[in-house]
Amino acid sequence: MIIAVDGPAASGKGTIARALAAHYDLPYLDTGLLYRAVGTNVVRGGGDPADPDAALAGCAFDDLLLRDAALRSEQAGAAASIVSAHPAVRAALIERQRDFAARPGGAILDGRDIGTVIAPHADAKLFVRASPTVRAQRRHAEMLTMGQSVSVDTLLAEIRDRDRRDCTRDAAPLVQAPDADLLDTSFLSIDAAVQRAIALVDARTAVRT
Ligand code: DC
Repeated sequence: MIIAVDGPAASGKGTIARALAAHYDLPYLDTGLLYRAVGTNVVRGGGDPADPDAALAGCAFDDLLLRDAALRSEQAGAAASIVSAHPAVRAALIERQRDFAARPGGAILDGRDIGTVIAPHADAKLFVRASPTVRAQRRHAEMLTMGQSVSVDTLLAEIRDRDRRDCTRDAAPLVQAPDADLLDTSFLSIDAAVQRAIALVDARTAVRT
């Protein structure tokens, strides 16, 4: 079974995807991490993520980078969002993601274009969203637990910026696949969101079996 989970930054898609992976015992790939590795690789090498050649060169990152905690930062997210708009970068990462989706026992991937480009044939597709304000508040709380204090307003501006870039780019923009189930987590606890996600996936896969 292949499950595709897409949605904007801080919508809760990563938490939901990890919980689904545990529930269905499927391997999980956070595809945002690949773009974060490319962006961070470029910035660390002194390059400009907006430069297509520098961004493409950044795709040759060492896999050890995927374990670097710095990839979780807002800066890495912003650099990822910029490099991910280059078609050549998306093309360079596509095979790795499709190979993962094609694992014999199935897989779960989360990102922006899983249900539309990487695994359009997925058995179940979720499009996870939450209001920008709720997402900024969640990010704020999460950062406080890491000892970082950034204002909700600053985080809200960053989230809106990232949404604009991810949704308006020409190459594989963030868009809900026509056959994806919408899951708005704005007013749901994590537990409630996960239960709802499981119910949606079960309903989709029951139709097929
Ligand atoms: O999911 P995330 O916040 O870690 O993703 C970081 C950036 O990477 C996101 O702003 C856009 C890009 N991305 C993408 O273009 N396609 C994906 N499948 C995953 C992430």
